[in-house]
Amino acid sequence: MSSKLFSPFKANGVTLRNRIVVSPMGQYSGDGEGNATDWHLMHLGNLSISGAGLVITEAAAVEPQGRVSPIDLGIWSDDNAEALARVLDFCRRQSDCKWGIQIAHGGRKGGVSPAWEGQLPLAEEDGGWTPVSASGLAYPGRADPIALDDAGLARVRNAFVAAALRARDLGLDVLEVHNAHGYLLHSFLTPLANNRNDAYGGDLEGRMRFPLDVFRAVREVWPQDRVLGVRISATDWAEGGWTIEDSIVFTQRLKSMGCDYITASSGGSTPEQVIPIGPSYQIPLAEAIRRETGIAVMGVGLITEPAQAEQILSEGQADLVALGRRMLFNPRWPWHAAVELNEPLAIPRQYQRCHPGMQRGDFLKPRQG
Ligand SMILES: Cc1cc2nc3c(=O)[nH]c(=O)nc-3n(C[C@H](O)[C@H](O)[C@H](O)COP(=O)(O)O)c2cc1C
Repeated sequence: MSSKLFSPFKANGVTLRNRIVVSPMGQYSGDGEGNATDWHLMHLGNLSISGAGLVITEAAAVEPQGRVSPIDLGIWSDDNAEALARVLDFCRRQSDCKWGIQIAHGGRKGGVSPAWEGQLPLAEEDGGWTPVSASGLAYPGRADPIALDDAGLARVRNAFVAAALRARDLGLDVLEVHNAHGYLLHSFLTPLANNRNDAYGGDLEGRMRFPLDVFRAVREVWPQDRVLGVRISATDWAEGGWTIEDSIVFTQRLKSMGCDYITASSGGSTPEQVIPIGPSYQIPLAEAIRRETGIAVMGVGLITEPAQAEQILSEGQADLVALGRRMLFNPRWPWHAAVELNEPLAIPRQYQRCHPGMQRGDFLKPRQG
């Protein structure tokens, strides 16, 4: 019997050759102006031949103060788009996997040093900035943000639209709006970061309003024959925070507005979060959202083994599996999974002879698709 993991996934006009997705992973390797560099050429080039059906590039900021660190990737300028086009052109010459991009605004978590320098707040002279957020509540240990006023809300919404148009023109197959991990859009959703008393705060309806406004505006410009998804933190894992029940309501609204899939991540709003870390720890969240809303769901979080990924899909807990750290540790994970599940490999012809089944030195016929 053929595996679910290596079965195609079709949404609108996009068909992925399998259900393995490379999860977006920030590289802190931009040039300081939001432009992709040679690191991205190597990093994404490498992942382009990984055998995954879809690679989603790291969070790309929709405006300069939407970065988390000053060397994050951006998609706010024509230069940013050109730098990404160079990387994508290169990658597309190496493989036929599909490409997605995540568009993001770091909100109150922005203006800090890169991960490997501890994500510490940076003074303006060191490249930092005053972050913006849903309200003036700071993320513990980071700078006090400025609450977005009406003009600021319009600016950010327009920045998401401009980013979507650039992504469209880059020919990307999948667009993912980053609504997770305590960044700007999530900071509107969660009571832990949103204490506004206008139409964009208060009850669930008010807190969902700005993220839904942004989604609606992006939906209007993103082509119907491609794929548009949203990554959410399905729970804050904290007292008084955003919950899985809220996520189900939010997903129902997104679905009715034309959202094609949800990625069920979690956390990021508060250092007080208590996360039950372990294999597949976020999959019950994915499963609940899929069951209650019927939307396609991408499961993510400590999926490391082919049999584990296969089980998640075959038991109907998710439609796609995204792998992050495992793909950095072993960028050939999909090849290993194919061998383990007895599936043909999407392997570049230059590397065919590394296949463990190549006893006699002859050449395999890789599955295209
Ligand atoms: C180095 C690194 C960078 C990340 N950057 C992003 C990002 O840009 N956007 C995002 O939504 N998640 C980001 N994540 C989270 C991953 O996409 C993924 O959800 C998380 O690591 C859990 O999956 P895993 O256990 O397979 O790594 C990042 C994770 C890592 C390890």
